[in-house]
Amino acid sequence: MSTLVDGFGRTFPYLRLSLTEACNFRCSYCLPEGYQADGRPTFLALDEIRRLVRAFVALGMRKIRLTGGEPSLRKDLPEIIAAVAATPGVQKIAITTNGCLLPRHVRIWREAGLTALNVSVDSLDPASFAAITGHDRFAEVSEGLEIAQTLGFDAVKLNAVLLRGLNDDELPAWCDYLRERDVSVRFIELMRTGDNKDYFERHHVRADALEKRLRDAGWLLQPRAADAGPAREYAHPQHRGRIGVIAPYSKDFCAGCNRLRVTARGDLRLCLFGEFGVSLRPLLQSDDDFDALVARIAMQLGLKAAGHGLHEGNTGITPHLASIGG
Ligand code: GTP
Ligand code: 5AD
Ligand code: SF4
Repeated sequence: MSTLVDGFGRTFPYLRLSLTEACNFRCSYCLPEGYQADGRPTFLALDEIRRLVRAFVALGMRKIRLTGGEPSLRKDLPEIIAAVAATPGVQKIAITTNGCLLPRHVRIWREAGLTALNVSVDSLDPASFAAITGHDRFAEVSEGLEIAQTLGFDAVKLNAVLLRGLNDDELPAWCDYLRERDVSVRFIELMRTGDNKDYFERHHVRADALEKRLRDAGWLLQPRAADAGPAREYAHPQHRGRIGVIAPYSKDFCAGCNRLRVTARGDLRLCLFGEFGVSLRPLLQSDDDFDALVARIAMQLGLKAAGHGLHEGNTGITPHLASIGG
């Protein structure tokens, strides 16, 4: 088996594949005006996705996370999950979703082969949830999460972007939520993107203050697993659930980077921030281009930078995370 290794010794077993830029929410930090279609070419089709995943697996990728936009807006999502699951070598298939379609679809996704689920839940208070996401859909998300917890996923994780004045007083409510539930909630430090400068200045909160509150309340930092994601994880003897903190502005964040991204239009992006990416799409049209596709991906990896430079004031060229899959 081959392994993708970059110039800084990092390995890449994990692909984040965006299925669409469209989203049905209007999260205030991401798409406050809602998704506006721009008439550019359509998103990757099932056959293109099959070829793409086969190439990344040949290069040692073992985990595929489906992202968006909102990936559940793809009518062919069950077929996509099944096709990825049927690719020899794929061990984990995860999705990141806003959760509003979970009650109707999560069983179908699980049956198709989905192994892990991340759901955005920016607030446990229905009114704040509606204010942040632009949609009064907390009830559906919450119902979907209860169903998901009965389906035997390897992991169910919840994402809450920490926002000053909007949801930064909810730690006690989250602790109650986690007492009996075997899920992990991750507080994500707001990232500044091309479109959210003013919003960032108003609502960005550093994660360290939250981590101090966690430690003071008896939450214990867990050792980092070899294949860990971006979160620092905390556990508490009196709670079944866990709390993660994703702090992209912390100094060593990028040293642990283990993922690459492909956008919904087939551009390989080596980093969330900082470069335009290169189109793989011309090489996804025929099985005959498999070797060229593998070679293109391996060559591009040599260009991956050490880090995003966000803490040095870089905002990158990413307009908002829905455009690239977060
Ligand atoms: P798992 O570890 O597989 O559960 O995934 P994850 O936590 O990376 O996935 P998810 O899609 O739930 O992302 C959670 C948050 O982490 C989002 O805000 C992402 O944008 C952010 N994130 C994920 N990967 C990176 C990364 O490589 N760099 C940065 N800066 N943020 C990331
Ligand atoms: N900063 C931090 N997290 C963000 N997300 C979207 N935009 C941002 C941002 N600017 C989160 C979403 C979702 C995940 C994929 O990324 O809330 O949970
Ligand atoms: Fe990796 Fe870029 Fe994310 Fe840093 S910002 S962890 S280098 S993708």
